[in-house]
Amino acid sequence: MQPHIVFEGWRVTFAFRRVIAGLSIAAFLLLITTASNLAIAQERKPAATATNSAGNATSARGKYIVTEVAKCGNCHTPRTQNGQLDYSRWLAGGPVPYLPAQPGQDWPLLCPRIGGLPPANDAQMITLLTTGIWTTGKPLRSPMPEFHMTRADAEAVLAYLKSITSGRGPTQ
Ligand code: HEC
Repeated sequence: MQPHIVFEGWRVTFAFRRVIAGLSIAAFLLLITTASNLAIAQERKPAATATNSAGNATSARGKYIVTEVAKCGNCHTPRTQNGQLDYSRWLAGGPVPYLPAQPGQDWPLLCPRIGGLPPANDAQMITLLTTGIWTTGKPLRSPMPEFHMTRADAEAVLAYLKSITSGRGPTQ
């Protein structure tokens, strides 16, 4: 009896080992497949990220120019009753906050909305920001500055202006 049991036991162990071996191979194949899929996903990811980060970088530079350098918001954003910029209506247009030094000047009353859908097409917006010339073929009235930005900066500003949705502040 004893040798027979040992033999049976050995057979069971052997069969069990085969199952384990089979499972190991299956697991290994699964690992390889998953790993190669991951590798493909990793390869694709940088390309998509690069496009996004290039777009984001352009818009981020535009935001910097608009909020920190050219200060478009000081004029093109309406103010609250206590005179602070109303960030809930960022670049949504508002009354000109300055008076002319010399009376009788052709002084505009409104700073139009410039956030969101631009008031002119891309080429016209770029021309305004790089040359100071508006769609009329002339500069806009003071106090709108005549900007002479580089084309890259103008494109960045335009990208940022387009990215603005109603109710979004400059820090969002
Ligand atoms: C000192 C105030 C001031 C600043 C700063 C300013 N603007 Fe203006 N902007 C004006 C005024 C005022 C007008 C209206 C001019 C007119 O009616 O002739 C205007 C007009 C415009 C227009 C024409 C819009 C339309 O629908 O007619 C655009 C576009 C514009 N500004 C973009 C900008 C951008 C972009 C910046 C920042 C890079 C900026 N402005 C900074 C005061 C300003």
